[in-house]
Amino acid sequence: MTEILDGKALALQIKEEIANEVRQLVAADHRAPHLAAVIVGEDGASMTYVANKEKSSHEVGFTSSVYRLPEKISERELLETIQFLNNDPDIDGFIVQLPLPKHINEQRVINAISPDKDVDGFTPVNIGRMVLGEDCFVPATPMGICTLLKRYGIETAGKHCVVIGRSNIVGTPVANLLSRKGFDCTVTMCHSRTRNLAELTRQADILVVAIGKPEFITADMVKPDAVLVDVGIHRVPDASKKNGYRVIGDVKHSEVDSKCSWVTPVPGGVGPLTIVSLLQNTLKAYHKSHE
Ligand code: GUN
Repeated sequence: MTEILDGKALALQIKEEIANEVRQLVAADHRAPHLAAVIVGEDGASMTYVANKEKSSHEVGFTSSVYRLPEKISERELLETIQFLNNDPDIDGFIVQLPLPKHINEQRVINAISPDKDVDGFTPVNIGRMVLGEDCFVPATPMGICTLLKRYGIETAGKHCVVIGRSNIVGTPVANLLSRKGFDCTVTMCHSRTRNLAELTRQADILVVAIGKPEFITADMVKPDAVLVDVGIHRVPDASKKNGYRVIGDVKHSEVDSKCSWVTPVPGGVGPLTIVSLLQNTLKAYHKSHE
């Protein structure tokens, strides 16, 4: 029987845990944790992500601020905003929503974020610490995937985990985390140049799909009773919906799910845990700055 890794329900539970902690801090006359976001331009998906982050911050009692900058802002001006956020003692953590406009060097911007406020875990310092197994901010989506597997008690030790996609945000860090002590998976990482992809995915006890292609994974690519984690989020037009679209993942769930032991739905799987991880990292940054 297929069981659901219910990210929406788990996110609600963890948000309640965070909200309780914030209530206690505020009752003890401390200020609330503060998460800021920088968004450049008006990309629809980015604006939705940032709005969700803001809503979730408020739900747990955090202070939230959003710096909305025009598409044409220069790299120098954006770097000045980042320095301002780095130096503001009332802000515990902040994120710069990606992607950035083409005329801005994304890595230069990420490099300018103070590692102590880098709650996305994107700076070289935090990535280096993660790979070394040191205390750090872990990127939100991989952290959310790890939380889902842990809280649902999914057995991972010695399992063959196949990760599809090698992005800095998801594939590369999740492959690293799941191979480490505590998860102890044997990890195979696949990407656009991988040969015989289906042969590898069919060997996966745990399949993590972060390829960015709608419904790419079909039933013939999945081992019976696999644990399936779908990181994809795509909007497709759907006239039957009030908002005119529905959200689908990288997996063709209509034919794949019944073959699996556990699956993350889309929406309501990995997505809600990504935001929760960002909140958890912000709380951690808050505690570090109050040590
Ligand atoms: N764009 C897509 N996902 C993310 C994320 O997790 N953080 C940031 N900053 N930008 C993103």
